[in-house]
Formats: sequence, structure tokens, C-alpha cells
Amino acid sequence: MKYPKEYLDEIKTRLKVSSVVSKVVALKKRGKEFVGLSPFKNEKTPSFTVNDEKEFYHCFASSEHGNIFDFVMKTQNLRFGEAVKYLANIAGMQPYMFTKQDEEREKKWKEYLAIYSAYVDFYHSELLKNASYLNARDYLKNRSLGKDEVKKFKIGFIEKSPSFFDKLKKEFSEKTLLESGLFYFDQKKNIFLERFRGRLIFPINNISGQPIALGGRIIESSDYLAKYINSPETTFFKKGSNLYNLDIARKLSNKIDHIFLVEGYMDVVGLSKNGIENVVANLGTSLTDKQISTLNQFFDDIIICFDGDQSGYKAALRAAENSIKELKPEKQISFLFLPSKEDPDSFVNKNGKNYFLDFTKQNKLSIHQFIFNHYKKQTDNNPSSMAIFEKKLRFIANSIKDNFIKKYVLEYFLEKIAELTPHTNQKKSKFFIKKARSLASTKKLFNESQAITGIELKEFSLLYLLIHNLSFFQTNIHLIENIKLLTEINKQIFNSVIYHLKSSEQIAIENLNLDEQLLDKINKFAPIKHILKNKPKNDNRLIELLDDISKDLFNFDLELRIQELESKFSEDLSETTFNKLKELKNERKTN
Ligand code: UTP
Ligand code: MN
Repeated sequence: MKYPKEYLDEIKTRLKVSSVVSKVVALKKRGKEFVGLSPFKNEKTPSFTVNDEKEFYHCFASSEHGNIFDFVMKTQNLRFGEAVKYLANIAGMQPYMFTKQDEEREKKWKEYLAIYSAYVDFYHSELLKNASYLNARDYLKNRSLGKDEVKKFKIGFIEKSPSFFDKLKKEFSEKTLLESGLFYFDQKKNIFLERFRGRLIFPINNISGQPIALGGRIIESSDYLAKYINSPETTFFKKGSNLYNLDIARKLSNKIDHIFLVEGYMDVVGLSKNGIENVVANLGTSLTDKQISTLNQFFDDIIICFDGDQSGYKAALRAAENSIKELKPEKQISFLFLPSKEDPDSFVNKNGKNYFLDFTKQNKLSIHQFIFNHYKKQTDNNPSSMAIFEKKLRFIANSIKDNFIKKYVLEYFLEKIAELTPHTNQKKSKFFIKKARSLASTKKLFNESQAITGIELKEFSLLYLLIHNLSFFQTNIHLIENIKLLTEINKQIFNSVIYHLKSSEQIAIENLNLDEQLLDKINKFAPIKHILKNKPKNDNRLIELLDDISKDLFNFDLELRIQELESKFSEDLSETTFNKLKELKNERKTN
């Protein structure tokens, strides 16, 4: 059994090597390539490279080399067929099953492509050479579209009474032609009609550049005809899965990390004419998760730039609330709002490329900023309105699937809300932020924070020991002075006890002014109290216990620092970070 070459090619077209590899290896961009630590060798300096343009990876340490299929087979220990299935799924494609239906479908698919490309080629060349299409050419001139754009986008024009159907009928059955969506049968007149007659047509290509649908614009104003129509959905064309111009724009993704997402065909053409070619349009429907994830396979930053009118704004808000759920740590979605009555096409034609790009730089909002601003505008400064506002934002943040993004977006929202509450004084708002921080961790972590963490328990033991042996530690303050606590509140108590021990002559618990509740908690939960309970206290034993606790705390701290450095290293892959990491790990061994 052999997969059709087109099927494998489509997987390869849809998936960049770097996006497949980065699921396993942390990659860092270096020039045209990416580098990372080899998954084939235990190494400390990166010798593994990925080249998206050439569609391969190469490991200098182990001489491993190959394409995405090889990579998946080797790193996941899969056979070829399994790797194809796995990657087709990531690419958002149907699995290829080798059934009779699959073969049938493959045959139909080839016919479908043949019909569309014959159709597009024919009407494109007609528009370029046929003198009778004067009205179409005038229209193009009025919109200042030249031959270059017509050619680049293979724009065509279909006359009012076209005859291409008869030509196609010689090669394809009526049924197949009807299924393409290019024609329909008029029951009354008993004839086949061209759906796009009297329209300029914009071919919508699949990711490999083959036309699979059309968008058509009327050129004479009409009260009863829609300005634009699209091909109907067919077996091979689903609106929510395709984007206009993706086949051209994706080729820029090795050089440019962001893509403009606009509403209309003419926006794509207009921007392209002005030298901005990293643009796609969704096809007159609302944005789908699939379109976002397709774009994310090629670009890190999606800039959504809809028309500067109410419906554009509404569409943007819908897109924001929907796509924030899918946001991934290394990806960004931003929004660009144009002055009212402008769309990207009109705006760039008026102001030119540089102005458009500067305007973008200065005005684009990240998705969470946009959502925050939107709901803030609808909020009054009274408790119930604020409560609804906060609830809505929490709800949106909670809809985010990725736990890290969820944490930071919630943190962003709550901090911004804290800034908005003018009645809270300095101290209060500080408290609020702190609370927001802990709430901001994922829901799971939040639930766990109800319980006491291991570090806190250790610190409780230390405080317990301290509080119940004040006079011993007052005379032996050097034993505890340098211990580092990690939890903010325990740290404060610890410092305040030390301060008192140093400054007063004789001290009793009551004079420490400790928070009652916390003191209760320490007395209740400090694990050390069970150890101390039955054994007689003596100084050596105290020192021993203290020693154990401080060692544990030191190790906790060390682990945290190691984790931090490890994630830093996976980002910067720098020699310095690596050396620091090594140092810390050595400390761990000797302890
Ligand atoms: P617009 O009306 O904003 O199109 O619709 P535009 O790009 O500014 O077009 P021009 O400049 O007037 O030619 C944006 C998109 O919405 C869909 C089309 O996909 C269009 O590109 N649309 C619009 C329809 O599907 N049907 C319509 O009747 C109008
Ligand atoms: Mn528009």
C-alpha cells in the first residue's frame, strides 16, 4: 500500500519541520535555521539544526538527518504509516484509509482539481486578452488594479453568457461538473448556468496552490445581487478550513514571523499591491479555530485587521473571544483597528506601505489588551458593574486551554482591575495584587493552595522551633541568621522574630505581636511538634533539628533556582546559563 504522493506532499506543505520538531526539542532561531539540543544524543551544547526552507533537520553530533516523517519515526519509534497518521492529524487532514472509498475520493479529487484549474486558467486568460471585456477592464482600472495583480492572483472575468460549460462537458460528466459548484441547473429554463457569470473571480487556492473554490465580485452595482459570492461548500472545499492567499503568504514565513488576517479579497490584493504580502483573508465567515491553528503552524503572530466599522469591530471581538481559548505560549494574536470607514485596502492605498506598517506597530493591541479594553468601556465605576466586569474577564481567562497562558492572562486582568480601583489605598491594592497572583495560577494549583505546601510545612517547623525556644535562639542567634525562607508571609514573621530577638532583652511569645491566626496554624500544622513531643529537649538536639530543617530549605531553594535556570537555558541556550546551571547542580550533589 502506497500513500498518494499528493497526500504526503500536502502534509509536508502544511507542517513546518520546526513546528513538528519543537514539540520535542526546544529550538532557538539562528539565522535561517533553528538550533537545539539533539534528541539523538545526550549533549550540552546544541548541535541539532532545523531548516524549514529545505524541509529537513540535521544533527551534527549523530549525523541523523531527514524530513518530518523521519523525525517522528525516530523520536517516537513509529512505523512510516503510523507517522503519516500522526502528522496528518496534526496537519488537520483526514486519515488516508486505503479503502475503496478513498480510491474513489482520490479519483474525484483529481477531476475536481482539473475542472477548477481549467476554469480559472480559461477566464483568467480571457480577462487578459479579450477586448470585449471592456467593462471589466474599466472596473479594474477604476480600482487601480493592474496587470501585475491580475496575474499574481490569477483574477478572471466571466461574461454574462459564457460557454465554457459546453467545453468542459466534453471531458467531464454533468454530475461531476455540478458537484464542482461552478454551475447550477436552472429548472425553469432547463439549462446549466454559470454561478459566477458577470463577476470578477478570485481563485481560492489550497495550501499547495491549486484552485479549489472561487470568490466572485459583481462589477455593475445591483440592488438584488450580493456583492460577493463564494463557491458553495463541496466535498473538497470547506470555508472554515481555508484562507484566501495562504498558499502565497505561507512561503514568506521563513522570513517574517507575523501574518495579517483581513476580511476581504480586495484587502489582500490591495495590501499586496503596496508591498505587504504576508496577508490572508477569511472567506466572509467568522474565524474558526482551524484557521487560527493553520496560521500558527507558519506564523508566530497573527494580526487581525478587520474593517474600521461596527461589523468589523464585532467580528474582531468574536474572533478574540473565540481564539483566546487556543492561545499557545509561543504564539501571539493581536488586533489592529483602522480609522472608521477604512478597510485595509482603502487605508493602504491612501497612505502607502510604510505608513501602514508604522500604524500597525503603534496601534496593534494584544488579544488580552483588546478584550480588557472592550469590557472596561462597558463598565461603570460602581461595585456591581465592576463585579460583572471582573466575572466576565475571569470567565474568559478560564476558557484558555493552555495553563500557562491562562495564568498570565488572568494575572494581567486582575492587575489591571486592581489599578482601576481608586478607593483602595496603597497597602490594600498591594494585597490585592498578591492575591491575584496566587489566584492566577491554574485552577488546579489554586485548589491545592488551600492545602499547605511542603515548603510551607518546613517553614512552619522552623518557626515552631524558634517560637518555642526563644531564649535559646536569642543567645545563639548566629545559628539562624542566614537561613533563607521562601514563602513571603513566613519570611516576614521570621524576620520580625529575629529583629525582636536582637533588639529586646528578654522576649516572650506574647510580645512578638504575631498574627494570631498564623500562630494557630503553625502550632497546629508544624510537623516538628510530633518529634519534639515525647523527647526531652536539649541544646544539641535543637541544633540537630535546626540543621536538618535549614538544609531542606536550602535544597528547596536550590531546586527552584535550578528549575528557573533550566527554563532559561531552553530559551537562550547560552554557554553562561549552562555553566551556572552546572554549578548549581554540583551544589546539589554535595548537599
Ligand atoms: P467587504 O464588503 O468588506 O469587501 O466584504 P471589500 O473587500 O471591502 O470589497 P470591495 O472593496 O467592496 O470590493 C468582505 C468580505 O466579506 C465577504 C467576502 O468574502 C468579502 O471579501 N462578503 C462580502 C460576502 O461573502 N458577500 C457579500 O455580499 C459581501
Ligand atoms: Mn472591506
